Amino acid sequence: MWFILAMVLYPEVQKRAQGELDGVVGQSRLPSFTDAKHLPYIQAILKEVLRWRPAVPFGLPHTINEDDYYNGYCIPKGSLCIANSWSINHDPSIYSSDADEFRPERHLDTNSNLKDESSDGHFSYGFGQRICVGRHVANNTLYISMATILWAMFLEPQKDVKGNPIKPEVDGEEWNGIVMWVLTQYLPLTSERVLV
Ligand code: HEM
Repeated sequence: MWFILAMVLYPEVQKRAQGELDGVVGQSRLPSFTDAKHLPYIQAILKEVLRWRPAVPFGLPHTINEDDYYNGYCIPKGSLCIANSWSINHDPSIYSSDADEFRPERHLDTNSNLKDESSDGHFSYGFGQRICVGRHVANNTLYISMATILWAMFLEPQKDVKGNPIKPEVDGEEWNGIVMWVLTQYLPLTSERVLV
């Protein structure tokens, strides 16, 4: 859903992606998994969608096994710790001052190749030992879905009665997500719990 919204909000990105698909795949067949390595811009869009609007913005909660100390804070054993993936994904010291912008080019080098194929380019799959074990399934599914949608159609905003485009409100959307609902329903933060 965030991908569709990004394509509507950033038509120049959609156009560049469709140009890449036209050159690599052409019109006579659908994109395939073997095309992926020749479609760096599509892969950059995938990385950027998951960075810009992480599907799990606060990660999953973990419990602290033993007392820990970080930056002068004591995090007592048993505390609930939730990594703030959203904040890391939007950290200007990592992604520069335009971190809030949807800009797939940030994942590409000057030759328009992926800067780092071995890295997701975001922190939306979590970290370390408990990093999302399904991330390769997710990446492959998202890649083929995004490539096929962009190959098959143009995504444009709805038009009003006068034919003017109605630009979707991106900041209005993110507070209606399922994840925020789950957090407030099942994980009310208490004073014993720690939010990182
Ligand atoms: C865009 C899609 C997805 C996102 C953003 C996502 C994100 C995450 C995150 C943030 C975690 C917690 C990591 C941590 O605790 O640090 C996680 C864990 C996990 N994910 Fe995903 N996930 C996605 C898709 C999937 C898929 C498709 C599968 C299964 C095929 C999957 C299976 C799992 C499992 C089993 C864990 C628990 C791993 C563990 O605790 O060792 N995820 N995921």
